[in-house]
Amino acid sequence: MCSPKLDIKIVDSYTTFRSNNKTAFIINGDSAHLPLPDNSVDAIVTDPPYFDFVHYSELSDFFYAWLRLALQDSYQYFSQGDSHHPGEVQDRDPGKFSVQLGLVFSECFRVLKEQGLMVFSFHHSKPDAWLAIYHAITTAQFMIAASHPVKAEMSVSKTKAATSNPINLDAIIVCKKQPQQQPGKPLASEVWSTAYKRYHIYRERLRNAGRMLSNNDKYVILSSQILVYASCSRLNKPETQHLLERVYQLDFSHAEDLMNQGNREQSENFWKNQLVTAQTHFAFFHE
Ligand SMILES: C[S@@+](CC[C@H](N)C(=O)[O-])C[C@H]1O[C@@H](n2cnc3c(N)ncnc32)[C@H](O)[C@@H]1O
Repeated sequence: MCSPKLDIKIVDSYTTFRSNNKTAFIINGDSAHLPLPDNSVDAIVTDPPYFDFVHYSELSDFFYAWLRLALQDSYQYFSQGDSHHPGEVQDRDPGKFSVQLGLVFSECFRVLKEQGLMVFSFHHSKPDAWLAIYHAITTAQFMIAASHPVKAEMSVSKTKAATSNPINLDAIIVCKKQPQQQPGKPLASEVWSTAYKRYHIYRERLRNAGRMLSNNDKYVILSSQILVYASCSRLNKPETQHLLERVYQLDFSHAEDLMNQGNREQSENFWKNQLVTAQTHFAFFHE
C-alpha cells in the first residue's frame, strides 16, 4: 500500500525552503557542515555508520568504477579516483571514529532547537563501539534521554549473512541537549540496577512479541541502557568504559538458562551477583 503522493516542491536553499510552504530542501553532502542556521531544526533522525561493520565507500567503489566511465565528463564528482570523501565517518580505530562522529553530532547540536531531539539507530557487538558513540554524543553536549530496541534490517541482508552471531536489533537512541545543571554523581549500583531492570522489561516485551533474541541482541539492549543512565549521570569515559566492559563479560546464555529453568531465585541471584561485582569493581565511583 502506498501513501498519497507528496504534494511538495524540492528547493535548493534554506531561505527558499523557509519562505515557502510545501517545500523540501534536500542536501547531498557532509553532515559535519550543514548549510542551516543555528537553532533552526525541530528533529534530527539519522542512521550513522555502525563503526567498523560496513565500509560504505569501499562498497560504493564497485559501482563508482563503472559509473565513472560513463559520467566523468558530465559530473565533477566523478573526477576523483574512488568514492571516498574526506569527511566520511569511517575508521577501524574507535578513537578516530568517535572524533569523526563527534564532528557530525556537534553540527547537529548547532542546528537543533533547544527542545529538539536527535534520534539515531545503532548496534554493535563490542564495548569499544558503544564507548565511541557515547564519547561522540557527550562531547557534542548531548545527553541520551532514552534507548528503544527495535527489529533491525532484514535478517536476509548480505552483511548479516557473513556474521556468525548476527544482531537482529537496533537501539534507537534518543538524544537531547544537555541541561546546564550538573546532576549529582550516582552510585555505580544505581546505574547498573536501573539499566538491567530496563533490560528485563525490553527482553520480556520482545519475547512476548515472538522475537527470538540472540546473545548479541541482549548485549545490544543492555549496553544501550547503560549508555542512557551513564549519560544522565554524566559519567566520564573511563567510568562508562568499565560498565560497558562489565556487560561484555556477562554470560547471557547462563542467565537465560536460569530463566528458562523457571528457577526465579537462582536467576535473581545471578543478576544480584553481577550487581555486587559491579559495585566492587567500580570502587572509584562516589559510593
Ligand atoms: C548506516 S548507513 C545509512 C544507511 C541508510 N539508512 C540506508 O538505508 O541507505 C550510514 C551512511 O552514512 C554515510 N556517511 C558517512 N559519513 C558521512 C558524513 N560525514 N556525512 C553524511 N553522510 C555520511 C555513509 O556513506 C553511509 O551511507
